Amino acid sequence: MSNKVVLKADNLHKHYPVSQGLGKAKAYVKALNGVSFELEAGKTLAVVGESGCGKSTLARQLTLIESPTHGELFINDEGTTGYSRKALKELRTEIQMVFQNPYGSLNPRHTIGYQLTEPLDIHTKLSKEEKRDKINEMMRHVGLRPEHAGRYPHMFSGGQRQRIALARA
Ligand SMILES: Nc1ncnc2c1ncn2[C@@H]1O[C@H](COP(=O)(O)OP(=O)(O)OP(=O)(O)O)[C@@H](O)[C@H]1O
Ligand SMILES: [Mg+2]
Repeated sequence: MSNKVVLKADNLHKHYPVSQGLGKAKAYVKALNGVSFELEAGKTLAVVGESGCGKSTLARQLTLIESPTHGELFINDEGTTGYSRKALKELRTEIQMVFQNPYGSLNPRHTIGYQLTEPLDIHTKLSKEEKRDKINEMMRHVGLRPEHAGRYPHMFSGGQRQRIALARA
């Protein structure tokens, strides 16, 4: 039995306009040219290709940082074309990045507790107590001890830092 499709790309194109200089015809970099796939819940999709082939461009469309020039992205069966800024902000809560190098994406000056609170401040209206409970739950969920919420990123191992990035997402 197949799982629910959580992410679907249908013929995604991203063409960036580039200046050719004054008086020259407009040119485009065709970074994506018809990308289609379906991703089921619980599955992993790897995108592999040479430098400049459009992997990061695809990631920016999938995370709603940019919108495709043509084609459509479906998140949980919902099309994302023509969404307002506000609706896109809501939709972004459904899709999160986990960066390869968590030491680069975690802020060295803030505690882990603070950095796990930030996404909840942005995306939820939970009370202070509810946020603390949620953070404890997420830390346990990824195998970290909630009493370590007051630690800074450099006080964790590399694997623990990756789990912090997962909890944050
Ligand atoms: N904002 C932009 N404006 C114009 N061209 C762009 C823009 N962003 C990316 N490109 C071009 O689109 C193509 C795809 O770039 P992209 O960054 O998606 O490649 P990539 O597969 O992630 O490469 P790498 O493996 O080197 O990270 C490249 O030719 C790049 O120069
Ligand atoms: Mg890239």
